[in-house]
Amino acid sequence: MAKKIEDISDIPGVGEKIGDKLKKAGYIDLMSLAAAGTLEVSEAASIGEATADKVIKSARKALNIGFETATDVYERRKQIGKIKTGSENLDNLLGGGIETQAVTELHGAFGSGKTQVGFQLAVNVQLPVEEGGLNASCIFLDVEGTFRPSRVKQIAEGRGLDAKKILGNIYVARCYNSDHQMVLAQKIGEMIKEKNVKLIIVDSVTSAFRADFIGRGTLARRQQKLNRHLHTLQRIADVHNVAVYITNQVMARPDILFGDPTAPIGGHILGHFSTHRVYLRKSKANRRIARVIDSPNLPEAETVFFITPEGIKDPEE
Ligand code: GTP
Ligand code: MG
Repeated sequence: MAKKIEDISDIPGVGEKIGDKLKKAGYIDLMSLAAAGTLEVSEAASIGEATADKVIKSARKALNIGFETATDVYERRKQIGKIKTGSENLDNLLGGGIETQAVTELHGAFGSGKTQVGFQLAVNVQLPVEEGGLNASCIFLDVEGTFRPSRVKQIAEGRGLDAKKILGNIYVARCYNSDHQMVLAQKIGEMIKEKNVKLIIVDSVTSAFRADFIGRGTLARRQQKLNRHLHTLQRIADVHNVAVYITNQVMARPDILFGDPTAPIGGHILGHFSTHRVYLRKSKANRRIARVIDSPNLPEAETVFFITPEGIKDPEE
């Protein structure tokens, strides 16, 4: 009788060499492989497409992947955790906070508060569940070089937390270009279990792609790569039950009076991958307005919050 397939190395045809390549590319268990696409695996692990196709199919078969009942989906969705943002207004807008098994995108102009919300979430995810966290750590992909531990420290101390401990549970990687960003995302899977990660922040998800693919001729290639990257992030969110928080800078276009004044620079591709999309805009001083643009279960609504020295807060009564 054939050996039961319980690990990637049990798949027929996967020797030590291919097994190693797959693991190095971030496919650490059957689920991560089963949820991946042929081209993605072939490219990430430098193996032939035929081989990639075969191992993915084997992983799917071993896990009995295909249809599941709505009861299964319901059970899985019961595991969804929520990270509070510090503002009850914003939490309510988001249906209770930033949720796991989903990609939440905040887009807005420069200074709208996308990074600040990220810092706050990196702190809050570490709180106990009853205090609005998930008792877990955070991975921060710093694409724009704007991660500031001193600001995170200030936010942590503002909540009366041990800043040293908080900073020790945020794993930061500076991304230098879009390829680097993609590789880091693929490798995250290994760290998630090891470090009890429940939140992944990519700030911003689009800037490296914009910088690396300039000019009309490269647009299709850029979208294709960005597409694959977002797919990786969505898969990680689902497979590992983590929250993915991504930011995207858009230009405010005051010249547009009707329709969407913030045509996303990355095109609309993000829309197909982010589960929840929220548009942030500056108001007076530290006041910010958040609006749900697109979500399968959240109503389109607007709310107000503040960026204070202690972090994200509700407006004073
Ligand atoms: P880009 O990355 O440039 O697209 O902008 P962003 O949306 O990430 O903006 P960010 O989160 O960096 O927000 C910057 C704004 O937050 C500033 O304009 C301030 O209004 C506010 N802010 C930043 N740091 C502090 C701080 O330490 N204290 C207070 N009170 N406000 C801050
Ligand atoms: Mg920023």
